[in-house]
Amino acid sequence: MRDALPWLLIVIQLILVCLLVRIVMRMALLTFLHRQTLPYVPISRGHIRLLRQSRALESAQTIVDLGCGDGVLLSAIAKSYPNAKLSGVEWNFTLVLLARLRFFFQRKRTPIIHGDMFDFPLNDVDAVVGWWIPDYAQRLVEKFVAECRPGCVIMSAMFSLPEHPKLQLQEVREGKYSLFIYRKM
Ligand SMILES: C[S@@+](CC[C@H](N)C(=O)[O-])C[C@H]1O[C@@H](n2cnc3c(N)ncnc32)[C@H](O)[C@@H]1O
Repeated sequence: MRDALPWLLIVIQLILVCLLVRIVMRMALLTFLHRQTLPYVPISRGHIRLLRQSRALESAQTIVDLGCGDGVLLSAIAKSYPNAKLSGVEWNFTLVLLARLRFFFQRKRTPIIHGDMFDFPLNDVDAVVGWWIPDYAQRLVEKFVAECRPGCVIMSAMFSLPEHPKLQLQEVREGKYSLFIYRKM
């Protein structure tokens, strides 16, 4: 028992250092990237819980996160739907690298594309997820209507999209968390 004590202390210190690095990195990202038009803010646990409860992605095989940040939402989806084919699009290269690193450590094949979400073709996906601000909403609706196939699920966290006859809305709410889930008609 005495021999094991120094090792135990080293392990505890390593865990604490890892946690500290994680917190510092998240704070740095939030500080530097919150001024973008659509800022980097990882999705909350409340939204993730709500998404799971809604079962909106249950039958989706191919899911893309438009503006995937460092992959928090994608990673949560991967845990709930391990067989789904996931990918993310992100224009900030630091976040792209962090998301790739996350999936490398999780040993999941999840392509993270460095680019503009408006250029990513949506013709082959079963579901599109994201946290988009109202400034992006009109352009995104036009893209969804033009490219998504009928039955495609579109999940917008926190903000609704402008109404469109081809997008059928189901709102899911719990306390301060809300998800706007659309089905392409
Ligand atoms: C609110 S965060 C969402 C993060 C992620 N979906 C999550 O919940 O973990 C929005 C992300 O979109 C990215 N972004 C903003 N405009 C973009 C664009 N035109 N194309 C791709 N990514 C974009 C930002 O860099 C930011 O990381």
